[in-house]
Amino acid sequence: MAEKSEVSGGILTNLVSEVVQSPMNLALVVLIVVLVYKILKNRQTSNAEAAPQEVLPPKMKKQDFTVAELKKYDGNQEDGRVLVAVNGNVYDVTKGKKFYGPGGPYAAFGGKDASRGLATFQVSAKEEEYDDLSDLNSFEMESVREWEMQFKEKYELVGKLLKPGEAHNSYSDEEDEPTNAGDQKSKDE
Ligand code: HEM
Repeated sequence: MAEKSEVSGGILTNLVSEVVQSPMNLALVVLIVVLVYKILKNRQTSNAEAAPQEVLPPKMKKQDFTVAELKKYDGNQEDGRVLVAVNGNVYDVTKGKKFYGPGGPYAAFGGKDASRGLATFQVSAKEEEYDDLSDLNSFEMESVREWEMQFKEKYELVGKLLKPGEAHNSYSDEEDEPTNAGDQKSKDE
């Protein structure tokens, strides 16, 4: 035991004298200490300064929306929730609020049906009436569907965008599909 500590003591002494005697080694050791210090300090401050996670409103109950009902969810209301409709479906895009919320680059889509804008690469949406998209060509409709796939992957589906006169489906708490409609939606999930 004593022998071992003598040996390791010897190595340590050698190492220290090596370092102290050579200015190059000394410089390297100082550099390493400074770098390690900086890394540790950085880690501490970035933990402390991490942007406080914005609290998202609770998951929205499944429901359908008329254009007028959807309009309320542009992020300016109290709970800050943002909904966007694409291709007849309404998505909760609150976690993408920096895009669709007030002041975001795509705020014009917040609380609106974004389908036409997405298909035509214009950040604008019809304000009041339902847009049946019937004048879009097949290329544009394909683009709407592709955008919808992206929304579906990233955001929670809340319900359907209702055509004028169409009734709200009632959804049970557990079920994602409406309980009272013969709707055509494929059960692909
Ligand atoms: C100069 C033109 C544009 C630039 C430089 C641009 C840039 C970007 C960038 C960098 C992102 C990704 C942001 C991220 O994931 O962090 C993005 C996302 C997006 N862009 Fe654009 N964009 C442009 C035009 C448009 C137009 C014209 C539209 C609408 C038709 C559009 C709709 C979107 C949408 C919907 C997203 C997805 C946001 C999300 O993840 O929910 N962009 N854009």
